[in-house]
Amino acid sequence: MENEMLTDIHSAVDIVTARQRGRALALELGFTGGDVTLITAAISEVARNIVDHAKQGQIVMHRIQAKGDPGIQIVATDAGPGIRDIGQAMQYGYSPRKGLGVGLPGAKWLMDEFDIVSRVGKGTTVTMKKWLR
Ligand SMILES: Nc1ncnc2c1ncn2[C@@H]1O[C@H](COP(=O)(O)OP(=O)(O)O)[C@@H](O)[C@H]1O
Ligand SMILES: [Mg+2]
Repeated sequence: MENEMLTDIHSAVDIVTARQRGRALALELGFTGGDVTLITAAISEVARNIVDHAKQGQIVMHRIQAKGDPGIQIVATDAGPGIRDIGQAMQYGYSPRKGLGVGLPGAKWLMDEFDIVSRVGKGTTVTMKKWLR
């Protein structure tokens, strides 16, 4: 696919790399300052969740198009422990362990579209989109 970019996520350094690549792609697609900040914040949260909860995974970002409108899609995938109760995980402030519990609901709020598929013992995939308008 056009402009596709894959970043392996293992550690905090990779979160920074994913952010920087997301920023570069968003700017290339024509997003401006405020939107770029929202997009990179959402990338940070899903990348951080890979490191914190799944140890490793990948983030794939690319340009999308719908009815002439371009956008950016970010897919975060891991083969970690998965999420037993997605409804609970999506609640603001829910974190059974160390975190603030605002990452998933925050990322959803920052982006135009947000989808999470997770299976216990199999892994988690978060797909997020933002449209240029
Ligand atoms: N990629 C993931 N793999 C497994 N569990 C996850 C993943 N992402 C999120 N979770 C679960 O969802 C919860 C909520 O995530 P989040 O809102 O980012 O809060 P936090 O990361 O601060 O705990 C996490 O505490 C964790 O239990
Ligand atoms: Mg988090």
